[in-house]
Amino acid sequence: MSNNLLATNPYKGTRDFYPGEMAVRNWFFSRMKEVVARYGYEEYNGPILESFDLYAAKSGQELVNEQIYHFMDRGDRKLAIRPEMTPTVARMVAARLGELTFPLRWFSIANLMRYERPQKGRLREHWQLNVDIFGESDIRADAEIVSIIADLMLSFGAEESMFKIKINNRKFFNDVLTSVLDVRGEDVQAISKAVDKRAKVPEEAYRKWLLESGITDENINRLDTIFGSSLEQISQMLGDGSEGARELTDLFTLLKEAGLDRYVEFDFSIVRGLDYYTGTVFEVYDTSPGNRRALFGGGRYDNLIGLFKNAEISGVGFGFGDVTFQNFLETHGLVPGHLDKSAGVMIALFDETPYAEYLKLAAELRENDIPATIYMGRGSKLKKQLSFAGKKMFPLVILAGPDEIAGNKVMIKQMAAREQLTVDRSKFIDKIKQLLAQTSSES
Ligand code: HAM
Repeated sequence: MSNNLLATNPYKGTRDFYPGEMAVRNWFFSRMKEVVARYGYEEYNGPILESFDLYAAKSGQELVNEQIYHFMDRGDRKLAIRPEMTPTVARMVAARLGELTFPLRWFSIANLMRYERPQKGRLREHWQLNVDIFGESDIRADAEIVSIIADLMLSFGAEESMFKIKINNRKFFNDVLTSVLDVRGEDVQAISKAVDKRAKVPEEAYRKWLLESGITDENINRLDTIFGSSLEQISQMLGDGSEGARELTDLFTLLKEAGLDRYVEFDFSIVRGLDYYTGTVFEVYDTSPGNRRALFGGGRYDNLIGLFKNAEISGVGFGFGDVTFQNFLETHGLVPGHLDKSAGVMIALFDETPYAEYLKLAAELRENDIPATIYMGRGSKLKKQLSFAGKKMFPLVILAGPDEIAGNKVMIKQMAAREQLTVDRSKFIDKIKQLLAQTSSES
């Protein structure tokens, strides 16, 4: 026996997806795909490795200096494992500007890596649904994104009271800082970082951060009051000139007209951590106090395509992570049981029957799109085979012993009802389809 056995646990902050866990992930991402497909979104994907420069320009210091996995390849190129999808999709759009028909409605489900301290809602590898519109700067696109978010949440059985989409606007935020709180333009970025982390750092540290970022003590208090103010109240402080205020007002008006206002609220403290957002920004929150971190978020970004091409193409969208979402689903009891139960039928073996008979039965089932699993193991007692079928949660087991084969019949055992019936071989496919439809509508 070797003493140098390797550890079986995966790398810190990453997960193995055993079939049970994979079934949950597949379940929710395939449902998400269905929802975005109903809005006409097309799927894309890109490589897991990108040039480091893609993130260095616009993603923001925290991501770039602390969270990116990067390395030099054998040809001395500085590469990064993608920590987010937006720079990749911006690169892809920029590469084919002339060929694409705008506006684009695109989505992707991709795994991303960030060097973070693993904790509730944060891991080093997560999967993210990204949904984005490119080439439409009207707030109608922002409203469509909000509508998709609401539909996504509702499609999992979430109720209106379980989540809130909190919306702000970067232009509006900047205008308030510079015009109302006398912040210099170059300090806005640093202050927005502090505001983004407001809920995550102690009060003292937050105030110190703000002071060091160029905002006076008195104005920190005013900012606190502003956090509790309505969009109308803050807009009045600004007067008429703010484009951000106009965009926010138009968006909320449109959302109200569309009946989506019950899912959203204005929140001046939403700024988002990534640097590239330029307009609407939003984060979706679980209303249950156990999950305080944002479930997911996104916004509008005007200048990402400009990193690659001299073109002005605006994007708006969001990234929806599997880790926070699973916490949400579990907190609200929205994960169905038995997602990993086996589909279709198991064919039991009888020693006296030639194995080729079972191969033929299985082939016929598969030709008819019925998943068929032949039991493995010579000479196993029927009791053992049925116990295996039970553990694997096969709804039906086919028992074709010498008598059935001789009489051109098939016996079907319904596992849940503990009932069995014998049908003619010529009719067994139809019967199995009918029984499977019945069991799937019951579960
Ligand atoms: P983000 O806020 O960095 O935005 O991430 C979006 C979501 O991804 C988070 O709210 C969370 O659900 C999930 N997420 C991020 N980091 C982790 C982590 N370490 N562990 C688990 N989940 C995580 C973006 O990535 C933008 N690129 C989204 C976007 C798309 N904006 C416009 N389009």
